[in-house]
Amino acid sequence: MLDTDLKSKRRPDYGIDAPGLVRIFFTGGLIVALLFLTIILFVGVSVLWLVILATVLAILSFYLLGMGCFMAYESKVTKLKDRDAILGKIVWRGDETVLDIGCGRGLMLIGAAKRLRTGKAFGVDLWLSRDQSANSPEATLDNARIEKVDDRVEVQTADMRKLPFADAMFDVITSYWVVHNVEKAEDRHLAITQMLRVLKPGGVLILADIEHRHDYVDIMSNLGLIDISLEVKPVKDLIVKAISFGSFAPFVITARKPAA
Ligand SMILES: C[S@@+](CC[C@H](N)C(=O)[O-])C[C@H]1O[C@@H](n2cnc3c(N)ncnc32)[C@H](O)[C@@H]1O
Repeated sequence: MLDTDLKSKRRPDYGIDAPGLVRIFFTGGLIVALLFLTIILFVGVSVLWLVILATVLAILSFYLLGMGCFMAYESKVTKLKDRDAILGKIVWRGDETVLDIGCGRGLMLIGAAKRLRTGKAFGVDLWLSRDQSANSPEATLDNARIEKVDDRVEVQTADMRKLPFADAMFDVITSYWVVHNVEKAEDRHLAITQMLRVLKPGGVLILADIEHRHDYVDIMSNLGLIDISLEVKPVKDLIVKAISFGSFAPFVITARKPAA
């Protein structure tokens, strides 16, 4: 088979989010599972405290390995389905100028570019490897080539708090699981203010994330965005909150900048 044939069969790789955390879950889970097996196979559970210890280790190992699998599945499967559902909310003309904030390896950026004919999709990112595995401009452009949208995609290194674009340049702005990575509340506020600055009057902002949902809605409403809708999947919300001890839960906010 020719090299070009092999290349054309390649699939895009959108990476794993928070790879360090996923590694900790898998490594921790395996170590705890080994401890559990050592007790069961070599020590025995002849006294009560050993029964309790073995039970705790079994539960802990199940939890850690389960979390590792869950996070990897979210990155590799769920996010792709969510991406299509989220982008499907927009009635695309095909000539839009799109900005994906924190584009990573291009999940939303490329999804949007696939819906364009004459428009263009821009992605910005700081390429922080703690937030996504092997993210880089090259990896994103490679995925764009595989998905045959590289003629409609441009990536830049930029911080979402200081977007290097003119005012009112974009018809659609997306941001998927990015803004929560900024630690300080005032910086998250600044990031959303920047998004609003570069959004055209009448343009659509879609912000999907896993923390601070009510803060974002308040900020958008205070900044004058309209048609703000917060979408939460109730069952998933409960499950993810429970397994993350209330830390995370995914949601999508859609809003519009008033027409001039
Ligand atoms: C969890 S990843 C999500 C990437 C992509 N949106 C996706 O869903 O596949 C978060 C991304 O945000 C980027 N990021 C973090 N802080 C940023 C900042 N201040 N400005 C721009 N990008 C940032 C990281 O480098 C990373 O690629």
